[in-house]
Amino acid sequence: MKILIAYSSKTGNTRKLAEAIHLALPGADLCPVENAPNPAAYDLVFAGFWVEAENANHTMVGFLQKLSGIKTALFATLGAYPDTQHAAASMKAAVAQIPDAVVVDRFICQGAIDPEMIEWMEMLPENDKNAPTEARRTLWKDAASHPDENDLNAVAKWAQQVLKNQAALA
Ligand SMILES: Cc1cc2nc3c(=O)[nH]c(=O)nc-3n(C[C@H](O)[C@H](O)[C@H](O)COP(=O)(O)O)c2cc1C
Repeated sequence: MKILIAYSSKTGNTRKLAEAIHLALPGADLCPVENAPNPAAYDLVFAGFWVEAENANHTMVGFLQKLSGIKTALFATLGAYPDTQHAAASMKAAVAQIPDAVVVDRFICQGAIDPEMIEWMEMLPENDKNAPTEARRTLWKDAASHPDENDLNAVAKWAQQVLKNQAALA
């Protein structure tokens, strides 16, 4: 089975997941989305993005649009907690970018927020929708250690299970 792992990563969090998947599936091709080959040449594509404004990040969107009819496993990182409505909505928005999507599985976990972005949010006025609150500061602190070893082990296990499921169907 020909497998591609294509990812987009601004600060390295999503790249870490992509590399953990590659270690788990060593025969797969791994590349940043900017250099990704034509996905139509693959039986299964792992597509990794970071959440930007409750969607896949804009660089990844163009690639997702090329995945029409191709078996796709989506993985992502985000600043928010992975068990929130926001995380689910972000994943749903990413799926919606793929015409005739064949999404076989999904994985999402927290990723550290760019310190420059935190610095910017710390300067916002109180009435701004992104202004810091105690809950937000706790979230940023919690996100800072992710993806951690548990996340990387979990994504590796997930990828192996995705492959097993696909092999069983073949
Ligand atoms: C411009 C921008 C927008 C973001 N929007 C969101 C968002 O809507 N929700 C969220 O949970 N995290 C958001 N984040 C946080 C990133 O998704 C998170 O830090 C991610 O792990 C970054 O991945 P990377 O290191 O692979 O670039 C945003 C970050 C940036 C820089």
